[in-house]
Amino acid sequence: MLSYLIMPKLTEEIKAFAAKQRLGFLATVCPDGSPNLSPKGLTFVYDATRIVIGDVRSPGTIANLRANPVAELNIVDRNTRKGFRFKGTCQIHTSGADFDRFLTFLRAQGASSDIASVIEMTVTRVRQVISPAYDNGASEADIERRFRQHYADEPDTSPGK
Ligand SMILES: Cc1cc2nc3c(=O)[nH]c(=O)nc-3n(C[C@H](O)[C@H](O)[C@H](O)COP(=O)(O)O)c2cc1C
Repeated sequence: MLSYLIMPKLTEEIKAFAAKQRLGFLATVCPDGSPNLSPKGLTFVYDATRIVIGDVRSPGTIANLRANPVAELNIVDRNTRKGFRFKGTCQIHTSGADFDRFLTFLRAQGASSDIASVIEMTVTRVRQVISPAYDNGASEADIERRFRQHYADEPDTSPGK
């Protein structure tokens, strides 16, 4: 049995999911063939086939994509332990009409950082990922309750505490 679904497009459900998570991990390929994985909070579904990512401070990712445009992105909800993996090819926009349009879109999503360039990822494959935590028949409500509790139990070690 397949543990994932293959979906042809970025649905409204996926768009809302990504907007809620506000964090994806983007993998690119370094010139030596090694992987480069870095977090991207400014990750939003733009339309049915494209994801837009704001580059604020991602020199490694940008250099890799310029040399080799392939990427994989994953977005996972830490509480429900469900998410999506996206494969695609990327274009970098640093100025011009496309840059302006995507920047306006990112601003409309609430992005206030100093965005140097925009990564436009055209998605060629979407897979749903579900944690093995579900293998024993647990419901999503069970898993979500368990992990909300887990993170709520973490001691607050922030400065001043
Ligand atoms: C939670 C989190 C979210 C981040 N979001 C972004 C982002 O949206 N855009 C960005 O350019 N950098 C973001 N960063 C910073 C980069 O991930 C970081 O500078 C990283 O080292 C860049 O590596 P790279 O050049 O290999 O991509 C984020 C970092 C963290 C910890």
